[in-house]
Amino acid sequence: MEKKTTIQQHSDLHAGNYHLIGADLRQLKELEQKLEQCQIDATIPTIFIAECVLVYMSADASANLLEFFAQKFSAATEFLNYEQFRAADAFTKVMEQNLEQRGIHLHGLQMCESEEKQVERFKNAGFKNVQVYDMNRVFKELLDQKEAARIQKIDFLDEMELLYQLLAHYCIVHAEK
Ligand SMILES: C[S@@+](CC[C@H](N)C(=O)[O-])C[C@H]1O[C@@H](n2cnc3c(N)ncnc32)[C@H](O)[C@@H]1O
Repeated sequence: MEKKTTIQQHSDLHAGNYHLIGADLRQLKELEQKLEQCQIDATIPTIFIAECVLVYMSADASANLLEFFAQKFSAATEFLNYEQFRAADAFTKVMEQNLEQRGIHLHGLQMCESEEKQVERFKNAGFKNVQVYDMNRVFKELLDQKEAARIQKIDFLDEMELLYQLLAHYCIVHAEK
């Protein structure tokens, strides 16, 4: 069960046209108010990037957030979501248990079980084209292979099977309205 703890105040930083706002993404009224205070122009092409954030929210809360973005922003809206993948298997269970021992709960893991779930959540929210890229595909095919080889040398990756196992459990979702 997701705890109902909420924080009422978040810090913001405004410097000319640059705005950093803090908000609980489950509290859409506050988020909308803050975006409006920044005079954000929802009619121009906008990209949203989330790295392991939606997975912390319940499926309902992330669905509401994605729907809010899809409705408020113009047709040229894109979302890049990097998070867990194939989350129904033993690998993820171990990760989940380790995190839970530290008091960290991944309330939205069920949305990370498969490509179909990710596609469905973005389509339900109003996004039209949704692509899911397994991180192994990104690493082995989509990244410049010279760059991938350079990175492997820096990190002295000798246990490649472990890396491939880890990469199989993360994905990038690219959704366009
Ligand atoms: C694993 S960290 C990812 C870090 C992040 N990619 C970054 O660059 O800072 C998870 C992040 O999700 C954020 N998060 C989780 N639930 C949230 C919520 N309801 N509203 C806003 N942020 C949330 C946490 O504050 C944390 O920064």
